[in-house]
Amino acid sequence: LDNGLALKPTMGWLHWERFMCNTDCDRDPDNCISERLYMQMADVMVKEGWKDAGYEYVCIDDCWPSHQRDAQGRLQADPNRFPGGIKKLADYVHSKGLKLGIYADVGKKTCAGYPGSFGYYETDAQTFADWGVDLLKYDGCYLDWQLLGEGYINMSKALNKTGKSILYSCEWPLYEWPFHQPNYTAIRETCNHWRNFADVYDSWSSIKTILDWSADHQDIIVPAAGPGGWNDPDMLVIGNFGLSHDQQESQMALWAIMAAPLLMSNDLRDICPRSKELLQNKHIIAISQDPLGKQGYRTAKMDSFEVWERPLSEKRLAVAILNKQEIGGPRGYLLAAIPGWKFCNPKCSVIQILPQYKDMGVQPIQSDIMVHVNPSGTTLLTLTPTSSNTTGLHW
Ligand code: DGJ
Repeated sequence: LDNGLALKPTMGWLHWERFMCNTDCDRDPDNCISERLYMQMADVMVKEGWKDAGYEYVCIDDCWPSHQRDAQGRLQADPNRFPGGIKKLADYVHSKGLKLGIYADVGKKTCAGYPGSFGYYETDAQTFADWGVDLLKYDGCYLDWQLLGEGYINMSKALNKTGKSILYSCEWPLYEWPFHQPNYTAIRETCNHWRNFADVYDSWSSIKTILDWSADHQDIIVPAAGPGGWNDPDMLVIGNFGLSHDQQESQMALWAIMAAPLLMSNDLRDICPRSKELLQNKHIIAISQDPLGKQGYRTAKMDSFEVWERPLSEKRLAVAILNKQEIGGPRGYLLAAIPGWKFCNPKCSVIQILPQYKDMGVQPIQSDIMVHVNPSGTTLLTLTPTSSNTTGLHW
């Protein structure tokens, strides 16, 4: 969507995977969906280096509103859980130098059964604009699939009409895929990013399914991505309960390769130092945010390895080597077996970013160097051809 926003993949925090629809503030005040949760996340994001690392949006997902619209037909926040209202919360988040995201649904209800926007597109867009909201995540429950496109386009226009800069995060293709192949040209013109596939869970099997889906559909989805519009493989679940550290590194590396929005869903108030360090790794974030703005894709799949590559600015290439064999120990992979290695002619300067940062020096095209990749882990590298005869080279 050409609204000047999301020129690089969005970075921030989104409540859904970790906090879901917990509305029990009496018994679980620290984890329920309330203004406190977002204020505390905003505080931590500033204090603990998240904002400095690039994480900017603090995003509300489902279950924030009251079950009734107000007398003017406007959505209103649940008064018990958001006593100050969304405008105050937006002011607070802005006072920290961060941005606020909100959630609504193109259909008659949200997935959790709160009021939907159907028939209220302009009203809701104006309400969000009046509150000073900076991002809208727009879900697709409770609508006939044939009306999805119209609904998503109407909301996009309604947001634009408010004159405010509101990043528009869609789930249009996710809800359309069961019926037919979505029109990614239209989606890119309408949205700043879009979910294609099922919700992420806090498990390695969930991450693997998302990666498989993305690779299986890469010819369709990769060309649609670029500055202003990105494929969204869903939230980062790093720092929760379900992924080993190697698997967390795999999610971080592959989400950067896929030019995915980096929206963490975890508890930043209580996160282990290694997960924090991984999420704040500036070399990985630099790949995610690379100015060339091209999405990466899977280039090889053999012997239970997957290689994913992303072309970067200055003729560099990011390479993720994922070991999908979940038995045994670390397995060796030859640099020279990376499909993009053929451009290391005569040489490439190789930097390893994961599992730890290491300058691997200049390697010739006939290199016999191997990297050893842990089971369900990823080695992340950047390659830079070092020769004048690589000018004009395309990865
Ligand atoms: C479905 C979406 O895909 C999820 O990310 C989340 O927003 C839930 N709906 C909320 O009900």
